[in-house]
Amino acid sequence: LEGSCLSIVVFGASGDLAKKKTFPALFNLFRQGFLPSDRVRIFGYGRSALTDKGLRDRLIGYLKPAKTDPRKDPSSVVKEFLDLITYISGLYDTVDGYLKLEHLISQHEDLKSGEKGQTRRLFYFALPPSVYPVVCRMIKQHCVNKRGWMRLVVEKPFGKDLASSNELSDQLGELFTEEEIYRIDHYLGKEIVQNLLVMRFANRFFLPLWNRDSIDNVQIVFKEDFGTEGRGGYFDDYGIIRDIIQNHLLQVLCLVAMEKPVSLNPEDIRDEKVKVLKAIQPIRDDEVILGQYDGYLADPTVPKNSKTPTFAAIVLRICNERWDGVPFVMKAGKALDTRKAEIRVQFKDVPGDIFRCQKQGRNEFVMRLQPSEAMYMKLVVKQPGLEMAAIQSELDLSYRERYQDIVIPEAYERLLLDILCGDQQHFVRRDELRRAWEIFTPLLHRIDKGEFKPLIYPEGSRGPPEADRLTEGIGYVRTYGYVWNPPSL
Ligand code: BG6
Repeated sequence: LEGSCLSIVVFGASGDLAKKKTFPALFNLFRQGFLPSDRVRIFGYGRSALTDKGLRDRLIGYLKPAKTDPRKDPSSVVKEFLDLITYISGLYDTVDGYLKLEHLISQHEDLKSGEKGQTRRLFYFALPPSVYPVVCRMIKQHCVNKRGWMRLVVEKPFGKDLASSNELSDQLGELFTEEEIYRIDHYLGKEIVQNLLVMRFANRFFLPLWNRDSIDNVQIVFKEDFGTEGRGGYFDDYGIIRDIIQNHLLQVLCLVAMEKPVSLNPEDIRDEKVKVLKAIQPIRDDEVILGQYDGYLADPTVPKNSKTPTFAAIVLRICNERWDGVPFVMKAGKALDTRKAEIRVQFKDVPGDIFRCQKQGRNEFVMRLQPSEAMYMKLVVKQPGLEMAAIQSELDLSYRERYQDIVIPEAYERLLLDILCGDQQHFVRRDELRRAWEIFTPLLHRIDKGEFKPLIYPEGSRGPPEADRLTEGIGYVRTYGYVWNPPSL
């Protein structure tokens, strides 16, 4: 179907996600030639009463032409893109808007493909999941593509626990096939996350080391240096575990820990992810630390007595031949001291170490997802010079330095291109989602009942000190007197 007429519908077009992520990603694909204007039309659908111009004015500030764009006038690229967009104001649960949408899509298809030519329809749900079922039903009744594929792109949160997620999956599954549904987890579109598969399975270095014999512990960390900032209404209903750990960090864990897939086929990869999820043991109470930053309740969109965690450190244990006994610490928090996301694999001590008394720390392999993508190996070398001393240093692959001319694509941009190509490798399969909820639901229910209380931590700190004690307790050894500095290019 490549080359046939394409209609992209963005539901929730006047909302925050669409403005900040969906449309900018579409724009990036457009300016690189993936959405040719003679075949593509974008329909924004939302409840707000807006004109086409009204929507375009909202979006314009978020569309940034790349400095390297070959075209002379960057603003003309933006204008050409905006001209592709038509806005439809409609409710989600009544037919009128959908009839209008179907009419406009058909008109575009007849014009570009003729009445018999093949067509493609992509529906992007930048919406709260509570309306997914009704929107799906309306699409099924009024906007089905009879001349080619249709793909539905849905955003998390996919439910609030196992039962609600299963219900949502059932509702969607009755109307559309698994091949038609793309569950986005944008962490799967990040460069370093995508690199995990290559790095782990294309390098002889890692094969003998990547297991319980050599690895002592693994940390998967997400930190933000800002709080909820007006998103408190949404966030308070979900909390940091549902917002970050159950999806983004768990997906990363799967790629760090899974066995080698039989092939690069998306189903083979996702089969392995499910297997490792199945081997995760129930979470232990003494391996959970929750926190809430001290300014959280001052956010006017947050209920006054909220006990929602904005920080969590949780140990996951994988009971299989490769990982038995290796703790995986999942740590995520808002309003912390810095913004970064990384995977930190810490190796065991050298047996019979003759340099033990000089050591600053252990070998670590760190994959920095953001900011400044990098992979570095912390290792011990001789201090250069006359003396025979051992110091901590690193082998550093910093992307900004090594790949200076390459612009790393945004996660959403890459994932949208995958959807157009029909590649589900970087999307969450239904059984994966189910298992992810099974792992966290018992803990989440207890938190919801108030049985687990968050510890208060100062805004701008590392989070509750108890979390550092937890990581030290499971065997993590901090390195002293050494800091890795990303290149300042
Ligand atoms: C979203 C969460 O999924 O991911 C936000 O809902 C979070 O709370 C965001 O800020 C982080 O994404 P990124 O790409 O900036 O790390």
